[in-house]
Amino acid sequence: MNYPPQAHTGSRQTIDMNSGRDIIFLDRVDSTNTYLKNRPELWDRSFVTVVAAEQTGGRGRHTRKWHSKPGSDLTFSTLCIPPQSVHDPSPITVIAGLAAYRCLRRYCGKGLNLKWPNDILYGNKKLGGILCEMVVGKRGAAVIVGIGINVNSTDFPEEISSTATSLKTITGKEHDVRAVCGGILDELSSLMRDFRVPLDRGLLEEWTAASASIGRRVTFHLDGKEETGTIAGINPDGSLVLIGSTGAIIDSYKDEIFYKLE
Ligand code: BTN
Repeated sequence: MNYPPQAHTGSRQTIDMNSGRDIIFLDRVDSTNTYLKNRPELWDRSFVTVVAAEQTGGRGRHTRKWHSKPGSDLTFSTLCIPPQSVHDPSPITVIAGLAAYRCLRRYCGKGLNLKWPNDILYGNKKLGGILCEMVVGKRGAAVIVGIGINVNSTDFPEEISSTATSLKTITGKEHDVRAVCGGILDELSSLMRDFRVPLDRGLLEEWTAASASIGRRVTFHLDGKEETGTIAGINPDGSLVLIGSTGAIIDSYKDEIFYKLE
């Protein structure tokens, strides 16, 4: 399905007076990622951010839907122009995960973890997700970093009710959605300032410590066949190192993996 560029209402202001950031607030939009994707005139505006109170067609990876409750949850996208060009969004997804982790840890502490490539979990329930998409503007490659965080939702559609959680569910109280957004943006802008590929060893160690992925058994697709293996680590380009069932190392894996419930 194509989302027409005009599918939004209520663009309120472009400079957030509190933070001085270049932020477009929308009351309603199909998807904040799609909004930026459809507007090449914004692709050279480094760190322009679109925040929507409501998304009517929120998207996740692999054409999955992203659900959020209007006015209660955080849905935003930021256009990042990396200081060093990238060929795919994988290393930026790692950075975006760390930005979200650093911010959300202040709200919910232990229990928060990252699942490669794009899930933000609390325990084994999904608190948020990241969708990074590339565009190429006049200043070169840019990555649209879309982040959705369940902030104040407490009831979810049936299909995700057993797998989703929110900051309110975890902490027992409501949180200011804009403050969560500002906190993630602060972390993202500081991480992006020093961004380079290969990613720094310190960041990889931080991601590894924050993640529940290392050592997890997964299924994945290789040469058209389904394989079983274990995640051994992440590479400095954001890809995975997997160990297949025969002990063979599969390096630089970037496709979909399925975590085995054990
Ligand atoms: C996933 O879990 O697969 C990624 C979910 C990403 C959702 C966010 S919400 C803001 C931005 N706009 C979208 O349509 N998707 C991302």
